[in-house]
Amino acid sequence: MKFLFINGVNLNMTGIREKGVYGSQTLDEINAEISARLKGDTCEFFQSNIEGEICTRIHGSESEGFDGIIINAGAFTHYSYAIRDAIASVNVPAVEVHLSNVHAREEFRRKSVLSEVCRGVICGFGKNSYILGAESFKL
Ligand code: DQA
Repeated sequence: MKFLFINGVNLNMTGIREKGVYGSQTLDEINAEISARLKGDTCEFFQSNIEGEICTRIHGSESEGFDGIIINAGAFTHYSYAIRDAIASVNVPAVEVHLSNVHAREEFRRKSVLSEVCRGVICGFGKNSYILGAESFKL
């Protein structure tokens, strides 16, 4: 299968910021592990701190033939109607993922404006949240 992994705002700081919450591996290291674990699949990775760039990447995903999007939008998850509408605008199914268990943290993290347009949500499994998200497309 062909997967697009999208990471949003501040995920480029993974392995540097709040290691107790997000772990000590960098995003590049996590992406390398994801590729190794999903070696029969095509995996593309995109990270941006800019909301509109993420929307544009999602818009292109259908014509690029992706079977699924695995998206960790970071804090955009909680308020970006633009990313929500971008996901709804393409015929590529998306799974929302998070490194941390957002339900065991601050109240504001419990609300996602993306979940409604995603086929499911996986959180709290660290880097394995991405792998579980991709595997869910094969069930
Ligand atoms: C996060 C959870 C978000 O609440 C937070 O803003 C992030 C990372 C996660 O992967 O656990 O930046 O999406």
